[in-house]
Amino acid sequence: MSTNSRISTDIQSIRTRQAGAGQSVFAALALTASLCIGCGAGQALAAGDAAAGAAAWTAEHPQPGSAPARSCSSCHGTDLTRTGRHAKTGKRIEPLAPSVNPARLSDDKKVAKWLYRNCRWTLGRECTDSEKADFLAFINAQ
Ligand code: HEC
Repeated sequence: MSTNSRISTDIQSIRTRQAGAGQSVFAALALTASLCIGCGAGQALAAGDAAAGAAAWTAEHPQPGSAPARSCSSCHGTDLTRTGRHAKTGKRIEPLAPSVNPARLSDDKKVAKWLYRNCRWTLGRECTDSEKADFLAFINAQ
């Protein structure tokens, strides 16, 4: 499949799966495309898998010593329509769910910046493009 037809297939499948999710669908599409800038020509522009993203969201990453394990839900909680609380600073974090907070996933640069920081803090490494796509598909469906 050519890159272009692969992109349009992905877009089609995201539209189908997320019909009704509102404007944020378009942010997700832009992200799916931008995440793959620099991908090798043969690399699939895989659309994210929301179920995989949901599982990864609560996966606990053990820390050295007696420090508590970390997960995305450590700060954002498990119900993304509710406010979160920063695990270190205790500061309030506005809901991540685009359904209640339409500004979410609308700014590619912000999303990229926070995925970079949060993956490193939580997993101790950067997330792969496929992990990022899964997280975004999950968040976008909330
Ligand atoms: C240590 C606390 C913390 C953890 C753990 C954390 N985040 Fe965040 N996250 C934040 C903060 C702080 C922001 C930026 C403030 C804001 O946008 O409300 C943020 C913002 C984001 C954003 C930007 C959303 C947008 O469009 O505005 C995404 C996406 C995100 N986090 C995903 C994740 C994922 C995925 C994980 C797990 C790998 C994770 N976060 C773990 C604290 C955390």
